[in-house]
Amino acid sequence: MISLRGVSKTYDKKGVRAVDNLNMDIADGKITGFIGPNGAGKTTTLKIITGILEPDEGTVTIDGLDMRTQPLEAKKRFGFVADSPDSFLRLKGLEYLHFCASIYGVDPAVEKSKIADMAQRFDMQKALSDKISNYSHGMRQKIMVMGALLHDPNVWILDEPLTGLDPKAAFELKEMMREHAAAGRSVLFSTHVLEVAEKLCDQVIIINKGRIIFLGTLDMLREQYPAQENLEDIFLELISHA
Ligand SMILES: Nc1ncnc2c1ncn2[C@@H]1O[C@H](COP(=O)(O)OP(=O)(O)OP(=O)(O)O)[C@@H](O)[C@H]1O
Ligand SMILES: [Mg+2]
Repeated sequence: MISLRGVSKTYDKKGVRAVDNLNMDIADGKITGFIGPNGAGKTTTLKIITGILEPDEGTVTIDGLDMRTQPLEAKKRFGFVADSPDSFLRLKGLEYLHFCASIYGVDPAVEKSKIADMAQRFDMQKALSDKISNYSHGMRQKIMVMGALLHDPNVWILDEPLTGLDPKAAFELKEMMREHAAAGRSVLFSTHVLEVAEKLCDQVIIINKGRIIFLGTLDMLREQYPAQENLEDIFLELISHA
């Protein structure tokens, strides 16, 4: 469960708000898609939720834990996959995963079995002994996903996680997201691929110019825009009016 109340952020104090008075509740048991044009404020919002950025105003809670007053407890609750997978390049894949596991105090037996399971699903067994600097973009993306999910967080927060994944890996990650939500836990991810949002999400949040312009199920969205044939048309219509 993720809750935002009155969250705003301006990068340049004189500039416009990158996100403006965001209020949202992301309940457990659901996959929530975060969509919006380039520069709308998705990454900024996800960085605020995960404590990478501090909001100028407002509060964020994860599973009821306040990011400002209980940051360590709150941070244990989620796994975050950032939009750029180019970190820890000097480590080998397995070293990186072990590093992630040790930060979160993952039991060694659990670590071993989770790595084996995810490596198999992502076809990464052989790559684990190579340095991340030698990985392709998609392989880097996969190792970041594995590292973020190793401690079995309740809340998954992923910034464009499917970008650059091959069809098999994208399928596996979508399946993992479905399994996670079906187990009563939460997934929040941003995407530009509206077909993915349409097929995968229980609810969507549409953001434009830092403001939420829609939050609800796709059925609710379709009811509001009966003239539009598909999510792409609705999206374009919404953005053009905002
Ligand atoms: N580090 C930064 N310094 C200054 N302004 C920034 C910074 N990061 C983002 N912004 C601005 O904040 C706004 C929101 O950017 P953000 O990265 O959150 O958008 P986004 O929705 O993730 O876009 P995209 O779909 O391109 O990833 C934009 O106007 C952007 O120029
Ligand atoms: Mg972004």
